[in-house]
Amino acid sequence: MRHTHENNTLSASMIGETVTLKGFVQKKRDLGNLVFIDLRDFSGVAQLAFYSDNPFKNITTNIKSEFVLEATGTVVERSSKNPELPTGDVEVDVTDLKVLATAKQPPMLIKDDTDALEDTRLKYRYLDLRRPVLRDMIKMRHETIKATRDYLNAQAFLDIDTPILTKSTPEGARDYIVPSRIQKGSFYALPQSPQLFKQLLMIGGFEKYYQIAKCFRDEDLRSDRQPEFTQIDIEMAFVEEKDVQTMSEGLIKHIMKETRGIDIKTPFPRLSYDDALRLYGTDKPDMRFGMPIRNLSDVFASTDFKVFKSVLENGGSLQGLLVEATHGALSRKDIDKLTDTVKPYGAKGLAFVKKSADGFSGSVAKFLSDSEKDALTAFMSEGDVLLIVADTLKVCRASLGHLRNVLGDKLGLIDPDQFDFHWVVHWPMFEYNEDEKRYQALHHPFTRPIDEDKDKLESEPENVYTYGYDLVAQGQELGGGSMRNHNVNVQTKVFDALGLDKKTQESRFGFLSEALEYGAPPHGGIAFGLERLVMMLAKTKNIRDVIAFPKTASATCLLTDAPSEIGDTQLSDLGIRVTDES
Ligand code: AMO
Ligand code: AMP
Repeated sequence: MRHTHENNTLSASMIGETVTLKGFVQKKRDLGNLVFIDLRDFSGVAQLAFYSDNPFKNITTNIKSEFVLEATGTVVERSSKNPELPTGDVEVDVTDLKVLATAKQPPMLIKDDTDALEDTRLKYRYLDLRRPVLRDMIKMRHETIKATRDYLNAQAFLDIDTPILTKSTPEGARDYIVPSRIQKGSFYALPQSPQLFKQLLMIGGFEKYYQIAKCFRDEDLRSDRQPEFTQIDIEMAFVEEKDVQTMSEGLIKHIMKETRGIDIKTPFPRLSYDDALRLYGTDKPDMRFGMPIRNLSDVFASTDFKVFKSVLENGGSLQGLLVEATHGALSRKDIDKLTDTVKPYGAKGLAFVKKSADGFSGSVAKFLSDSEKDALTAFMSEGDVLLIVADTLKVCRASLGHLRNVLGDKLGLIDPDQFDFHWVVHWPMFEYNEDEKRYQALHHPFTRPIDEDKDKLESEPENVYTYGYDLVAQGQELGGGSMRNHNVNVQTKVFDALGLDKKTQESRFGFLSEALEYGAPPHGGIAFGLERLVMMLAKTKNIRDVIAFPKTASATCLLTDAPSEIGDTQLSDLGIRVTDES
């Protein structure tokens, strides 16, 4: 028998009933003639009471935190009720008690506001998972997956799984590699996404595919990135980008309703990639507040300020953020601190001008000509501060995009409960990699250029735009997708523009090109980062909170100690020799 009741279902209406509960000891209070035990199961906590004449009271002497118990008894009214606890009106007068398992002293406090270091929590993850706050986030993950499956199943999408031992899929990260024993010297790659397989399914005649897919990427980790993560991966045949976006909006609306009971408005607003960069300095703008970036190059075109002047002469740009008086005041010390936050983005400094009753103050005020003052007065009111970065356009955007988010937080301009879903659309096909002196795909190489631009693939690749789209909310990229190249000639031109020679094209993507020659339906799709969605729903900024067994920032598992060394026999079976070179 399991239990007769979940712990958190006990209530005053059950007084007099006999119940059997099972769970972990959350806390024991021994008052001498009375012993109380808070028993925690998955549902919550109920209080066991052992009054002075209880024959089991003696057994409780040896019971410690996290022991596993089975207790039978009668539900009785508490003499002192606990309004904080859902079951706080009652307790169980125990008539039978079994210790199902003893427990060592846990190395961490098992409660929501534990003071344990994250390393301890990860090493003893099974103890960490006992904390209700983590349990609830893992439940939210389950509910998100369930809502996703319900929605897509109802729309006749087929759930099809694709290989884990496979060939490299370029999504912009390094691959995790698995050596083959049977084919010594050959390697599988773990999928960075199921991208090519879902396209092959469309070529295989399936028209609506989805999968809750594991993806593996060896890249620099951050608070919203794990080496092993999960996508809600979707592909559809005979569609245009609007169809995929409309389907996605329906899915997100359903997930929001099912998991949080929130009604959101669809369709989501659309913003072009170029406008996102121009106005917010990033391809994933937080739209919960305004404060767009302003182009100040014209205002300062004839400036005497040496720094600005030389940047403009060298083809650079002047861009700024206007912090209005109503947003809140910024002291000089604040601005110094803000300067430190833009430096990592390449900005060499942060200039500022403040408008006051009697003119302008700030680091560039003394260089301002009358016409510059007039130009600033056109959009600055008393108390406003203009923060300025002078650099290449790229550095201006990156640093001010970041600064805008910092200011949004610092000045309290962001409503954490607002969901600002929007599409970033019309992406360029390529970006130029200055270090490697070549073009690379901004989404991935299978993205379809818009029809008007496909003739520019050879002549002016930098001006080719695509049917690509990202779904963004709260400054996070929740998902991304596109229409794909179903025409092999266009696909080949994209590979050419990426500088892949014919031999490389054949060895890496020959199977795809060949498949495209056997009749490929127009198709497109999207992938949502499941963890990113759940993070938003569960209101956490730490991706590890929404993964039962996550990895550290250095891609290790502290619980199992993976990755770890393997034996010489295994290595020699694989034909692999480990060297000391790093
Ligand atoms: P993309 O690379 O944009 O697209 O990935 C889709 C979404 O997956 C999430 N994501 C991650 N989440 C956690 N940790 C990571 N390391 C990580 N990397 C990505 C993001 C992202 O928006 N095949 C294409 C999709 C398509 O074109 O259909 C793809 O993988 O939320
Ligand atoms: P990405 O996911 O690469 O678009 O970047 C996510 C966030 O990290 C953005 O706000 C970037 O500006 C920021 N970022 C990118 N590169 C760096 C860097 N080298 N140092 C600090 N932050 C960065």
